[in-house]
Amino acid sequence: MFVSRRNFLRTVGIGAAAGVALQPSIISAAPLFEPMRPRELGGPLRLNSNENAYGPSPKTAAAIRTASAQANRYPFDQYDGLVEQIAKLNRVRREQVLLGCGSTEILRIAAAALVGRGKQLIQAAPTFEALEHYARASGTEVVSVPLDKQFAHDLDGMLARVSSSTTLVYICNPNNPSASITPRKDLEIFIGKLPSTCHVLIDEAYHHFAGQSPMYASFLDDPINNERLIVARTFSKVYALAGLRLGYGIASRTTAKQMEPYLTEDSVNGIVVRAATVALADTESINDFIKRNAEVRENFFNQAKVRGLKPIDSQANFVMMDTGHPAQESIEHFRKNNILIGRRFPAMDTYIRVSLSTPEDMKEFWRTWDTMPYAKTSI
Ligand SMILES: Cc1ncc(COP(=O)(O)O)c(C=O)c1O
Repeated sequence: MFVSRRNFLRTVGIGAAAGVALQPSIISAAPLFEPMRPRELGGPLRLNSNENAYGPSPKTAAAIRTASAQANRYPFDQYDGLVEQIAKLNRVRREQVLLGCGSTEILRIAAAALVGRGKQLIQAAPTFEALEHYARASGTEVVSVPLDKQFAHDLDGMLARVSSSTTLVYICNPNNPSASITPRKDLEIFIGKLPSTCHVLIDEAYHHFAGQSPMYASFLDDPINNERLIVARTFSKVYALAGLRLGYGIASRTTAKQMEPYLTEDSVNGIVVRAATVALADTESINDFIKRNAEVRENFFNQAKVRGLKPIDSQANFVMMDTGHPAQESIEHFRKNNILIGRRFPAMDTYIRVSLSTPEDMKEFWRTWDTMPYAKTSI
């Protein structure tokens, strides 16, 4: 029988807690974020990928530096410590945790394990497209149901499309690109009505930014008893590790077992494992970034209001805003001014998606907005 390196080490008990070994040496009274760096010389202002513009916290940055000295070593004896930490944080068993090269890998293996030719995936439109791409590649039929008037998932519309071949439903909550949430109680009713042959993948990439809404609750923090639920989380947003690529999925033991064989062996690198171990525990920095994001978001809405614009209520670290004009024109205008904003989303073709950044960066966004030919007469 083939035994993966990951499982071999688990079997022989090596590596448990190895991931947390860095922690004590890097705890210091350092400021929450590294000093602001000017953006890369001559590079564009990036308001296009919903990243954390402040960069990793000093504690996490120190862990990255330390871990880089061991870049010559394979990372597989590092995994168990991080899996343990994630399992503890989310009050699940370690067998329920899957680490991926970004949460994109979790989406990829969900597609590989749960859909395919003759099967159907149901999702919203627009939503984050990675799962759809992987599903289509394997011949899956993809049914996209437009968001409702509140920009929530149209759960009744999705339910109406469920058939005997539906094996996966994708719920992105908060949803990318609309930044909107689908109420928790509606999701519970919806999940309860799905046939027992259907899995549900809840993508909580933007979970940390939705915490203030009474209509939102994570399916990890507040779990329901359902064997067919998978929750995906990422280190690319609040933890500021997008460039190092780490995400995780949490599922029942049965579902995790079904998905695990499709993971790329040892796809998670040794630097990010150690960085994530520290970042997860650095709650002060996490809370500080959430607060900064909320302040910048509020200011964005004030600036939009002054200009007669009405962005969709955002529960994320980005904003989707109707300009009343083809999105491509705005994207082009910003690009010419060295600012990248989100790509086009054909289902919402007059909307632009703007990632929230530092207050200074957002000032630059509005300065540039005001030079657009239709800035004063958008809506
Ligand atoms: C909703 C959603 N899910 C998943 C991802 C992928 O994130 P990762 O960097 O973890 O692969 C993104 C990235 O922007 C996203 O918006």
